[in-house]
Order: sequence, then structure tokens, then C-alpha cells
Amino acid sequence: MKNMTNIKIGIIGSGGMARHHLVRFAPMETAEVVAIASRNEQTGTQLAGEHNAVFIPEWHRLVQREDINGVVICTHNDSHGEIVLAALRADKHVFVEYPLASDVGEGEAALRLAEDRGRVLRVSHPEAVSNTHKALKQKIGELGDLLLTSFVRLTPGRGARPEILFNLSVSGTPAHFFIYHIYPIVDFFGGAASVKKNAVYEGLKENGQYDRFVNTLTVEFERGGVGQWTWAGGVAINAAEEHERYVLTDGTISDAGDGWHCTTPAGVTPLVIPDSPQPTLQKLWLSEIRDAADQPPNLEDARVALEAIRISLSSE
Ligand SMILES: NC(=O)c1ccc[n+]([C@@H]2O[C@H](COP(=O)([O-])OP(=O)(O)OC[C@H]3O[C@@H](n4cnc5c(N)ncnc54)[C@H](OP(=O)(O)O)[C@@H]3O)[C@@H](O)[C@H]2O)c1
Repeated sequence: MKNMTNIKIGIIGSGGMARHHLVRFAPMETAEVVAIASRNEQTGTQLAGEHNAVFIPEWHRLVQREDINGVVICTHNDSHGEIVLAALRADKHVFVEYPLASDVGEGEAALRLAEDRGRVLRVSHPEAVSNTHKALKQKIGELGDLLLTSFVRLTPGRGARPEILFNLSVSGTPAHFFIYHIYPIVDFFGGAASVKKNAVYEGLKENGQYDRFVNTLTVEFERGGVGQWTWAGGVAINAAEEHERYVLTDGTISDAGDGWHCTTPAGVTPLVIPDSPQPTLQKLWLSEIRDAADQPPNLEDARVALEAIRISLSSE
């Protein structure tokens, strides 16, 4: 039996991530998903029916509902910013799938609104709560100044929904839909002073869809040091590969697919990643909403998410 003071949630979108969040909120004693809005009536009514929630075809009506305290946004990238702004204007707390927005002005306006209205604005970046991220952050803090961080991801296929993902109009550039590779690095090193970009698309059609890409970004961080990201997708490689390195003045931390290692003049050691339980992003958001009743919300995550889209949107 849910109590009377639980947080009432509306979810927008009825695809993979909407279901992902819904099944995590559903068993919680302190939260209740009361409504689902989606343009897809079939999946929307099905998801709502499975969880005793109301289906609303139009998301504008969901954000206006007085019985809803928090809105979870799980639509495609092209609509995040608009829905975030509408939800904050309606005084709702917001949890939005990454990216925060596909326009920097919308992202900035969202942060201002959240500050002015004392609403929680959290972006669904799982790195923020991962033990690996915390261990890397601590180790980076011990190894001096950043010289270079580099990230490479090569992906063979085009995913289950290439018409959505490999589509500049819906998802934005690869740097934007792979923003979860940018977010943690911004959380470590802050914003960029300058960004250089390169993007090549094969089979690009007028509606924004394409078959294959290579997208690179090079940033100079405001605090010094260089960051480089390379993504290539739809390429001839058997399995996805990822390489990541942090080169600092006193040592290098890297993962070339065989786990994280730290190299210093004293030798090579595996990075110790603690096994401590972490709150889920959903639980974190709910606890932030409860805290926001007595104090201004902590918007640090939203600030990092905004710096991350400043970088990803420079790749357009
Ligand atoms: N945090 C993570 O680990 C993670 C993982 C994957 C994806 N994501 C992000 O999560 C978001 C959703 O991805 P997904 O995989 O859940 O996509 P999905 O399965 O295609 O679901 C998107 C849902 O939103 C609906 N929708 C899209 N635009 C809408 C609009 N303007 N108004 C109303 N409904 C709309 C879609 O309707 P239709 O069925 O009609 O298209 C669909 O129900 C994306 O931004 C993606 O980048 C995050």
C-alpha cells in the first residue's frame, strides 16, 4: 500500500527507456507512476495498463496535471529540451533521458528555470552513480594536471533502431547521442575553452538518416589539457571496441578493453573499484525531490550535463 505523501510521477514516452524507468519506480513505496504520455497510443496504453496508470496521448496535458510532482522524459533527443522547459514552467521536478537538450539556449534556460523555481533537474547519466566513475575521479585527483584524455569507440552495427539513432534530425550527431562518453569527462575536468570537430557521413539522406559515420572532437579544457573523442559506427569490425585514457602529469590511467590500469613511475597497478552499493538514479532523483522541500536543489549534475551538450552540439 503506497502512502499518502508519495511522489507522483508522469512518464513521457513509451519505449525502451520509459519501461526501464517505470519498472524501477513501480515497486518503490515512496513513488507512484500515475500517468504515461506518448504519441504512440499502442505502446502507451499497454505500458499504462500494465502499471495502473492513465494514458494521455498529449504530453502537454501530462505536464499540466496538478496531481503530478515529477516528470520523467523518455522521448527521442529532438524533443527533450522543449518538454524539460514546459515541465519546469509547470513547476514539476524533472528527470530527463540524456541529452538534456539539443539546443544550448534551451539547456541554459532549463537550468535557470530549475534554479529560479527550486525544482530538481537531473539528467539520466548512469556514470554519475557508478563506482568506476567515483574511483576514476579520486585517482585523477591524485595524479596532478591533465595533459590528455582520449576516447575511441568503434561500433560495427547500426543498432536495433538505426532510423532513430543514425538520424541527424532525430538524434543529432554521434557526439550528441553518445554524450554519455562526454559527460564523465566534463565531470572530471570541467568545460571546454575551444572545440574542433570533424564528421563524415556515408549514405546521408535528406531526412537525416545515414549508413556509416566517423565523428571526432578535440577540446581544450578551460583548466588546461586536451580531450579527444572518436566515434565510428557501421564500420567493418567484428565487435565494438572502446579505448579510454587519462594522461596526467604524474601518471596515466587507461582501459584498452582489459580493465582499468594506472601507470606511474612506480609501476602498473589495476585501478581499485570499490564494490559499495550505490543508489540508483531513480532513487537519487526522488531523494533530491524530498530534499528540495527545505533547501535549494543541488543542480551540479544539470550543470555538467549542460557543459556536455555545449561540447556535443559543437560537433554539428
Ligand atoms: N540512459 C540510458 O542508458 C539510455 C539508453 C538508451 C537510450 N537513452 C535515451 O533515451 C531516450 C529514449 O530512448 P528509447 O531507447 O527509449 O527510444 P524508443 O524506444 O524509441 O522510445 C521513445 C518513445 O518516445 C515516444 N516519442 C518520441 N518522440 C515523442 C514526442 N515528441 N512526443 C511524444 N512521444 C514521443 C516514442 O513514440 P514512437 O514509438 O511513436 O516513436 C516512443 O514511445 C533517447 O533520448 C535516448 O538517447 C538512454
